[in-house]
Amino acid sequence: MGKRIGVLTAGGDAPGLNAAIRGLGKAAVGQHGMELIGFRGGIRGLAEDHWEKLDKNQLSGILTLGGTILGTSRDKPHRMVIDGETRDMIPTIAEVVERNKLDCLAMLGGGGTAKNALRLHKAGIPVVHLPKTIDKDIAHTDNTFGFATALEIATEAVDRLHSTAHSHHRVIIAEIMGHKAGWLALGAGMAGGADVILLPEIPYQIDSIVETIERRKKSGTNFSVIAVAEGARDLESTAALQAAEALIKSAPSPEAKAMAKTHYARVEDNHRDNTFRLARELEARTDLETRVTILGYVQRGGIPVGADRLLGTVIGSAAAQMIASGEIGIMVGSKGDGAEAVPLEDVAGNVALVPLDHPWIQAARDVGTGLGD
Ligand code: F6P
Repeated sequence: MGKRIGVLTAGGDAPGLNAAIRGLGKAAVGQHGMELIGFRGGIRGLAEDHWEKLDKNQLSGILTLGGTILGTSRDKPHRMVIDGETRDMIPTIAEVVERNKLDCLAMLGGGGTAKNALRLHKAGIPVVHLPKTIDKDIAHTDNTFGFATALEIATEAVDRLHSTAHSHHRVIIAEIMGHKAGWLALGAGMAGGADVILLPEIPYQIDSIVETIERRKKSGTNFSVIAVAEGARDLESTAALQAAEALIKSAPSPEAKAMAKTHYARVEDNHRDNTFRLARELEARTDLETRVTILGYVQRGGIPVGADRLLGTVIGSAAAQMIASGEIGIMVGSKGDGAEAVPLEDVAGNVALVPLDHPWIQAARDVGTGLGD
């Protein structure tokens, strides 16, 4: 008898999730004779044993759809809020997996999902993880589905902001998603020809940004477009956040850790309107009207581009193949045009930041883009 497997989507949604569900499902059912069930609403649906059988009919016509047909949530299995109470649901999840006689659970999600997959794996639950995120910040995978679509959307936004910035002689700041890693802001900023790109990896100095804008003004170009990652901070904020993070790492007890985390959240909160603060300062110092556009969830919605459908299909079908061969406790990473199995231990908790010597950074500098440093 073929294997019986479950699938769920967790964390923020991303274009290409349905392509990956379809790739996994069609290969699992059609090629490997497996039975597939889909849990609704992410890890919460798993804990609640809420699923439906996925066969040919459910898997047809979803390749081009945005979002996820299964729904998603940001729940953590070891700390789930049930009726107002925080509970460890891992034992319940183990029972659900056992009761449904699942040989493997495929978890499609980002960095948080990789950590949760590892937690389940360590509890003896057979899992594989498929890397999705528009942020492209998962370790040991060449790519993540969702990134290519978000790149197109953010690039088009930067393009459109150019013409209005030009008409009004303004500075326009486009805030692009990416809390820890700046791949999307860097990619879209470069593809859209932003004059300044600010990333979480490179703490910025206002003086440097002002200098770029003034240089442009002197040469007769009295407008500028800035692409800023939502997690980009100036030197001072970066130092404050790093100090708060160090407190968490060095906390001697769980109580001290909880307090340090509350402190970190407060510090983070103080720096939340960062992009607007930057706009106010630039306006005061350059004498150019400055506006902010936050691209937000537009970047995660809608029809996936071809590259994400292709990647989702390759990763999904490779996952079915790996599950058929009995591999568990792994991420199905993207490698070149194909896929490779990477142990979850190597993935969970590792964020793939933009290396400071990355060719994109070098190319941005070479074409005269200011990086705020
Ligand atoms: O991880 C993907 C992402 O879109 C980030 O870029 C962004 O910071 C975050 O999710 C937003 O999360 P939420 O959906 O919880 O608001």
